[in-house]
Amino acid sequence: MTKTILRALKGEVLPTPPIWMMRQAGRYLPEYRETRAKAGDFLSLCYNPELAAEVTLQPIRRYGFDAAILFADILLLPQALGPKLWFETGEGPRMETTDTPGQVANLKPTEAIHETLSPVYETVRILSRELPKETTLIGFAGAPWTVATYMIAGKGSKDQAAAHALKAQDRPTFQALIDRITEATVEYLSAQIEAGAEVVKLFDSWAGSLKGQDFKDFAEAPTQKIIAALKARHPGTPIIAFPREAGQGYIGFAHRTGADCVAIDNSVSPEWAAANVQIDGCVQGNLAPEHMVTGGQALIAATRHVVKAFSKGPHIFNLGHGITPDAHPDNVQLMIDTVRGA
Ligand code: CP3
Repeated sequence: MTKTILRALKGEVLPTPPIWMMRQAGRYLPEYRETRAKAGDFLSLCYNPELAAEVTLQPIRRYGFDAAILFADILLLPQALGPKLWFETGEGPRMETTDTPGQVANLKPTEAIHETLSPVYETVRILSRELPKETTLIGFAGAPWTVATYMIAGKGSKDQAAAHALKAQDRPTFQALIDRITEATVEYLSAQIEAGAEVVKLFDSWAGSLKGQDFKDFAEAPTQKIIAALKARHPGTPIIAFPREAGQGYIGFAHRTGADCVAIDNSVSPEWAAANVQIDGCVQGNLAPEHMVTGGQALIAATRHVVKAFSKGPHIFNLGHGITPDAHPDNVQLMIDTVRGA
């Protein structure tokens, strides 16, 4: 029998939506914190296939999610292109900046990425052996715009100002960077699929700050190129796109990019997303992650609301963004029980 997530991605309407959660392996779980301490730090954990597979499996064992997402990070790919990457405790990622023509030209060739990223492929191979047979394995990468925002600024930022500035002041350099990331992402995701990823997801966490033609040029066009290249090589592998906070940009996004499923953040209502996005096929989302912190009757009501709003079309239940470190593990169980028992 085909796995439930793969059925939903093909457009099947299931009586109970399959379920997984962004950042399901993360700091809200004591067993994750323990394994991360064993690895030493977050990046050592990402590059240790045995331990990365272990933390990927932890939420599957604890909750029986329908999908496992490979434990890695969207910033491993730009790191594999050359710039140094590290994480400042309590602050988040830091990278050597890439914002001049010379720095873009000096990025390593695409073929070189596999040298750095081969432990990630090994994690995928371990997982495809060890996951329960009903669990779908999801691989992922950052979408080019989101990855570029970290490469250009050297860190995360609320408004992505540095990337917008480079786009405005030196369009050829900005475009060349986007093109390099696009090309490398195709090879990275292809290698994940060859290692055993059954679905891949593109995280465009900052798509919402691209407006008008910029959204078309830098959220849609690179996503469309990556999907076309992957579909040519791996026609059977479904692709989920997450242009977070795209708003009106969600409408027709699957159609224009070739994505099999669009992940929806929680800034839009599920009724709106059902009427405007789910009409094109499978959607994923979109419970507010705050409910994993606050729990209670409000969690139950909001979970039922999301399930009901999407019940007439293909749906994968998920949060609208990643679960946060202050979430309570019991609230995750309550959400799952509500989805499956509703
Ligand atoms: O979802 C999963 O469980 C799979 C693993 C995964 C991680 N990051 C692990 C992680 C995935 C899919 C990501 C994606 C990612 N990484 C995104 C896109 C999704 C999103 O959240 O918008 C982005 C922008 C990043 C970059 C990144 N990685 C940031 C900004 C941070 C610091 C912020 C934070 O939450 O601390 C990370 C660190 C990170 N990536 C952690 C995890 C579990 C926390 C690291 C730790 O253990 O200290």
